[in-house]
Amino acid sequence: MGQRIDVNHLNVYYGDFLAVEDVNIHIQANKVTAFIGPSGCGKSTVLRTLDRMHEITPGAHVTGEVLLEGRNLYGDDVDPVAVRRDVGMVFQRPNPFPTMSIRENVLAGVRLNNKKISKSDADDLVEWALRGANLWNEVKDRLDKPGIGLSGGQQQRLCIARAVAVHPQVLLMDEPCSALDPISTLAVEDLINELKRDYTIVIVTHNMQQAARVSDYTAFFNLKEIGKPGHLVEMDETKVIFENPKDTETERYISGRFG
Ligand SMILES: Nc1ncnc2c1ncn2[C@@H]1O[C@H](COP(=O)(O)OP(=O)(O)OP(=O)(O)O)[C@@H](O)[C@H]1O
Ligand SMILES: [Mg+2]
Repeated sequence: MGQRIDVNHLNVYYGDFLAVEDVNIHIQANKVTAFIGPSGCGKSTVLRTLDRMHEITPGAHVTGEVLLEGRNLYGDDVDPVAVRRDVGMVFQRPNPFPTMSIRENVLAGVRLNNKKISKSDADDLVEWALRGANLWNEVKDRLDKPGIGLSGGQQQRLCIARAVAVHPQVLLMDEPCSALDPISTLAVEDLINELKRDYTIVIVTHNMQQAARVSDYTAFFNLKEIGKPGHLVEMDETKVIFENPKDTETERYISGRFG
């Protein structure tokens, strides 16, 4: 099952620069939540705070809370590596490990976690993850071939399989379809729709049609001006955001008048 995420009074800094200010957001379990908004408003930055990837950037830090099913990910006793096991990330550009086979790519996260698994358990896990990523039938006869020999859409689904193989509770996706053609995009969107049965999903997208197609909830971020921090304007059911938003900023953005 997916887990819910509650973000309370989150401020996100790069050094002294406050990139995103006072975000309060409640992300439902087993739903797809889309982050939309103009470039630079902090969508990726907020997304990366949800699995503590933000702090990998030197000088970057946060104040406030991110609760995963009530547990503060930024608590003193929390190991960031363990957080990234529960909360998986899929990046904008498919990034299979270039020297690894399809099979080893799927297992890469599990191996990083230093888990010893038998060959037959690994075989089962590879099949399960690839089936879950809707890729099994296309690759089952070439599991030992390089991951980078796949098409862009297949590579992105391979990266989703790699993320799923560690059994996360949450999947974060930062513009996962922006490097893909329309057919691969639809394949990944179909997959997102299936994955929400098992995971909580947060997706950043610039594509309004995509947000409308795949998400249950939409959060609109904006920034007052360049150099000022981004903020969450509003979040609601996707239908409400697209048809009847409360804020005029949202209305202007979704009707294409800026951004
Ligand atoms: N590593 C970094 N160091 C310093 N500032 C950063 C860093 N990454 C992002 N920023 C700044 O933080 C702000 C938010 O950037 P972010 O990448 O989160 O925006 P975004 O909404 O994802 O934009 P886009 O739609 O273009 O991907 C911007 O002002 C950006 O310049
Ligand atoms: Mg971004």
